[in-house]
Amino acid sequence: MSLDGKVAFVTGGSGGLGRVHGLVLAKNGADVALTGNRNMDKVEAVAKEIRALGKKAMAVKVDISDEGEVKAAAEAVKKELGSVDILVNNAAFGIVRAVKITDMEKEDWERDLSINLTGAFNCIKAMMGDMAEKKWGRIINISSVTGTMGGFGQCSYATTKAGLIGLTKTVALEGARNNITSNVIILGVFDGGSFYEVGESFRERIIKRVPMRRAGNPEELSNAVAFLASEESSYITGTELVVSGGIDLFTF
Ligand SMILES: NC(=O)c1ccc[n+]([C@@H]2O[C@H](COP(=O)([O-])OP(=O)(O)OC[C@H]3O[C@@H](n4cnc5c(N)ncnc54)[C@H](O)[C@@H]3O)[C@@H](O)[C@H]2O)c1
Repeated sequence: MSLDGKVAFVTGGSGGLGRVHGLVLAKNGADVALTGNRNMDKVEAVAKEIRALGKKAMAVKVDISDEGEVKAAAEAVKKELGSVDILVNNAAFGIVRAVKITDMEKEDWERDLSINLTGAFNCIKAMMGDMAEKKWGRIINISSVTGTMGGFGQCSYATTKAGLIGLTKTVALEGARNNITSNVIILGVFDGGSFYEVGESFRERIIKRVPMRRAGNPEELSNAVAFLASEESSYITGTELVVSGGIDLFTF
């Protein structure tokens, strides 16, 4: 797989999984813009790791729920690296919150939707025009098995992750004639990142439900991201790729 000459934009680039997506895309040849909305020193540190691989990298401060900030970020990346070819909508909020719907505050619900779902909408809207002009684009949305199976105490998060699936397929239809593919990756649980914010005993219980009896290594996910970002996946669009060690399969 070669991503030489391509520019990738990874939201949530300082997060446990976003960092690895950035590194794996760069190892495959892409220049990478990583976004963060706070802790920019962490995002800059990932950009430094990418530069050490010999690729260009940029740390961009942006709250993806703000359409104006996203447009400005896309322009800044275009100036420094070139227009975005590969968009990875990875940032998310409220990932491990466990609050039943009857106790959920409306403002938390709305914030989760504005980041996880509207954030992806904002990024796609800001970058798809340039992809259409170049007649090449890759949009990869990061969902979760919570979006297909539901999650106790996760009404907002599950809704956003399910929403990304419909968004992905619609964008696939709208982008197809311009050679823009849009796919969604449905994740199980992975080492690093938000899965480590849940307590150890809860984590062990979840891992027992994974047929492969382990959490995924982030690179096992990022390799799937890199494949969907590559020329080699050119006829794959509108698809859901489950990377979960089988956690969504019926077990007993
Ligand atoms: N870790 C897992 O096991 C797991 C499982 C299923 C799905 N996922 C999904 O994978 C993705 C990455 O998860 P992670 O574990 O690395 O989480 P993480 O919490 O480590 O990273 C999330 C990132 O999103 C960024 N972010 C949050 N709000 C933002 C905003 N308003 N604007 C811009 N950026 C914002 C954070 O700064 C952070 O960099 C998420 O979409 C998550 O839903 C993760």
